[in-house]
Amino acid sequence: QTGWSGLIETYRPFLPVSATTPVVTLLEGNTPLIPALSISERIGRGVKVYVKYDGLNPTGSFKDRGMTMAISKAKEAGAEAVICASTGNTSAAASAYAVRAGLKPFVLIPDGYVALGKLAQALLYGAEVIAIDGNFDDCFNLVKDIAQEYPVTLVNSVNPYRLEGQKTAAFEVVDQLGEAPDWLCIPVGNAGNISAYWMGFCQYHQQNKCEKLPRMMGFQAIGSAPLVQGYPEKSPDTIATAIRIGNPANWKRALAVQEASQGGFNAVTDEEILDAYRILAREEGVFCEPASAASVAGLLKVQDTVPSNTTIVCVLTGNGLKDPQSAIDHAQAQVKAGVASELDAVAQAMGF
Ligand code: F0G
Repeated sequence: QTGWSGLIETYRPFLPVSATTPVVTLLEGNTPLIPALSISERIGRGVKVYVKYDGLNPTGSFKDRGMTMAISKAKEAGAEAVICASTGNTSAAASAYAVRAGLKPFVLIPDGYVALGKLAQALLYGAEVIAIDGNFDDCFNLVKDIAQEYPVTLVNSVNPYRLEGQKTAAFEVVDQLGEAPDWLCIPVGNAGNISAYWMGFCQYHQQNKCEKLPRMMGFQAIGSAPLVQGYPEKSPDTIATAIRIGNPANWKRALAVQEASQGGFNAVTDEEILDAYRILAREEGVFCEPASAASVAGLLKVQDTVPSNTTIVCVLTGNGLKDPQSAIDHAQAQVKAGVASELDAVAQAMGF
C-alpha cells in the first residue's frame, strides 16, 4: 500500500511504541490546513489565518489521534475492555478503535447532552452506551473509579498515550506551514488537546523542526469556563455540548501551557460561537461542530490584540455532521418546501 499510513507509522520516532506494539489504526491524521481567506480579510493587517480541519479524521474528530495510540497500547498491555466518559466525540473514537482491536468499549455519557451524530456512531460501532443522570464531570469521576475496580482500561485524556497521539496534530501543522504559527487558537474542554499541541510544538522545536513556539490561546464557552474564572463550574452550560465541562481533568497542565507559551484563556458566548460557526460555513465552506467554532469565535473576539502580519492557526476539532440539529436550528436558512414539480414553480422559488 502506498500513501498515508496513519499517525503511528508516520511519526513513529516521536511516539512511545516499539516494533512489537500492535498498531490499531484507521489511517487517521494528515488532515488539511485550510487558508481561511474570508476570516483573514475580516481581521486584515496582513494576518494570515488557517484552520486545521481535524473533523476530517475517520470518526470525525481529533480524538482519533489519541485513540490510535491509547487503543494500541491497551491492546499491547493485554486489555480486553476500555471505558471513557464523553461528551460524544471521545466515545465515538474509543468505540471505533476498540472494536477494530477486538476490545469491548464502554462509554458513559451525560444523558441528553450528546449530539445526535456522536450517539449514532457509538451505537453503530457497538459500544455499551450508558447515559448518566449527571454532567460530563460526574461521568468522568465514575469512570475513574470503575477503571480502578474493574478490568477496564481508561481511555480519557488522563491516559498519557492519548496526549502522545494528539500531539501529532502540532507536528502536522509545522510540516504543513513550514514553521510553527505565531498563535494557536483552540477550544478547551477537558484541556487535553491544548496540552497535547504544546507537547508537540515543544518536541518539534527541540528537534529543530521549527524556530518559533506559538502562543497558545484557549477558548471556553462562557457558561463552562472554569479556566477563565479560576475555579470549577458546578453547572456547566453551553450550546457547544462537546465542551460542556466544569472541572477539566488537565487543569494543571493547561495552566502550565498558558504560562510557558505566554498564551491566555478567554471565554466566548454561545452567540459568538454560533456567529463563527455560520461564518466558517457560509464564507469559508467549512462545516465544523459548534465547539470547534469556539476557536474562531475567540480569535474574532480578541482580534484587536493580534499583531500585524502574524500567522494564526485555529483548530477545528470536530466535523459539523456530528451535530445536525445545531446546524438546522442555527443556519438562518430554511428549506423551501411544497414546490410543485414544474419548471415555472422552481424558477419562481429560485427568485427568477
Ligand atoms: N472540541 C471538540 C469537538 C471536542 O469534542 C472536545 C472534547 C474539545 C474540543 C475539547 O478538547 O477536552 O481536550 O480540551 N471532547 C471530549 C469528549 C470531552 O468527550 O469528546 P479537550
